[in-house]
This record gives sequence, C-alpha cells and structure tokens, in this order.
Amino acid sequence: MRQGIPIDRTGDRGEGSEGTVVLGSTAPPLLVEHVTKRFRQGSRVIEALRNVSLTVQRGEFVAIMGASGSGKSTLLHAMAGLTDIDAGSIQVDGRDLASLNDGRLTRFRRERIGLVFQAYNLLPLLTAEDNVLLPIMDHRRGGERAAALLERLGLSDRRTHKPDALSGGEQQRVAIARALVTDPAILLVDEPTGNLDSVAGAEICSLLRSLCDEQGRTIVIVTHEPSVALVADRVRILKDGAIVDGFETAGFPDAQGLANAYQEALRRVVSGGGEAS
Ligand SMILES: Nc1ncnc2c1ncn2[C@@H]1O[C@H](COP(=O)(O)OP(=O)(O)OP(=O)(O)O)[C@@H](O)[C@H]1O
Ligand SMILES: [Mg+2]
Repeated sequence: MRQGIPIDRTGDRGEGSEGTVVLGSTAPPLLVEHVTKRFRQGSRVIEALRNVSLTVQRGEFVAIMGASGSGKSTLLHAMAGLTDIDAGSIQVDGRDLASLNDGRLTRFRRERIGLVFQAYNLLPLLTAEDNVLLPIMDHRRGGERAAALLERLGLSDRRTHKPDALSGGEQQRVAIARALVTDPAILLVDEPTGNLDSVAGAEICSLLRSLCDEQGRTIVIVTHEPSVALVADRVRILKDGAIVDGFETAGFPDAQGLANAYQEALRRVVSGGGEAS
C-alpha cells in the first residue's frame, strides 16, 4: 500500500470500501483455511500442517512462532504456493493459489508475493541493484523503483556491489528490496535474522516494522525467536503443525515478556487448555 492511503486495520472491510484499496481488491491479502500438508517418506507420513487457518488483513504484521519442526517453513512455503497442500485452501490477494496453473502461479508469485529467506538467496554474479531488479521485466520502468527502495533501505552507496562485498545485514536488506520491488500484496519472511548477529538482526526487525508503519505493508514472519516476533502486531503459535494459540504483542515491554507468554501458551496446550485450531 502506498503512503497516504488510509489503512483499515480493523479487518472486516466490506464491499464498497474501494476508496481505501490500492488494487481495488476487497479481499484480505492472505486467507488460509483449514490447510493440511503431509509429507510421505516411504511408509511414513508426517503431518506437517494440521487444519491451519489464518487471516491476515491489509497493513497487518503477524508473526508465526513455533519450535524447530513445528511446520513454520512448510506453512510459509504453502502460502507462497511453493508447496502443494493436501486439504484446505490458500488465497493471496483474493486469488486461490490452487486455481492457478504452474506458469500463472509463477507470475502471480513474482508480482504479488514478496519472499525473504534466512539465506538471502541473492545471485552472486549480479550487483545489489540487478538483484533487486530480478523480478521486474521492464528494467527501465523498474529502475527508478529499485533505486528508491535501495535508498529507503540505506543501500544507495552499495548499489553496484556484488553480494560477497556486502555484510549479511546488507545482503538481507537487498533481499527485502527485491521482495518489495513489484509492490506485492504481502511480504512472507522466514527467519530473516537467523544468519545475522544481534545488532544486524535488530536492524532488520526494525526495518520490517517501519515498512509496515510507514507504507502499510502486510507482513507475515515465521520465527522461533521472541525478539523477532516482538516486532509484529500479533503472534500465532504453531505446535506440531497446528495453530494452538496466539496473542497481541502490544502489552509486552520486551522480548522476555513475549517469551514468557509464549511458554505459558505452550504449557496451557500441553495441559489441555489450548485454543483449538
Ligand atoms: N520435504 C520434506 N519431506 C519430508 N518431511 C519434511 C519435508 N519438509 C519438512 N518436513 C517435515 O515437516 C515438519 C515441519 O518442518 P518445517 O521445516 O516446516 O519446520 P520449521 O518449523 O520450519 O522448523 P525450523 O525452525 O527448524 O526451520 C518436520 O517434521 C519436517 O521434518
Ligand atoms: Mg523453518
């Protein structure tokens, strides 16, 4: 969403609110309904996602927390249409991903979904600027946008550097610029600080927060780190492939407060009092 355009954070936007929507779409950027995903390994079946539902409204910043193996990356990949699901449905920007054939899904993902991974995934032979331009077909049109994004992300003087001449934090900022260059409906982020020291990690978190606050970006981040989840508006907790609980982050003064709430929620689930998914 562009600056100056009112953002509806309340969620329930009805028909006829086109005045507040950039692309005229009234659908939430992300609607995940009753998603199940199984991996088969020989005779063994792993249920990586179990009846997961999640709605993310425009301008909202949601963190999905869970232990290693709880299904966070699987859910993020499913939201990006990078992995097939066995049951349920996923809509991004009003489009059911299952309704798109491979070619259309690839185009839709490139244009409407921004993806950021722990490992940056930059092309080593391209400059920072050319990495950012990758998702854009028309480089003349995209050039201005890439330059503006690189400037906003504090990378103007790193434009012509290749990834190996950039710090980890700078590489991750290039990856974020690349994810945003098509002005996607949603930014999906998987453990963005996993390869960074705590200072660079905190910078990436505050950058994501400011992209949400200043530009109304819709962001879903998956992480096991309370300090990362704290930048979101609310947290949903994944355990063994199911969403078991969640809370708003507004009341927590620091990451320790959020970590305590997360542990408490997990204890409630173990003792049988958790929220059904
Ligand atoms: N391609 C695959 N084939 C078989 N099993 C898989 C595959 N990908 C994931 N799994 C299994 O699905 C479950 C969820 O994995 P996933 O990678 O989503 O967890 P995660 O929460 O992202 O973990 P981490 O925090 O370690 O990244 C795990 O039991 C994992 O072993
Ligand atoms: Mg993962």
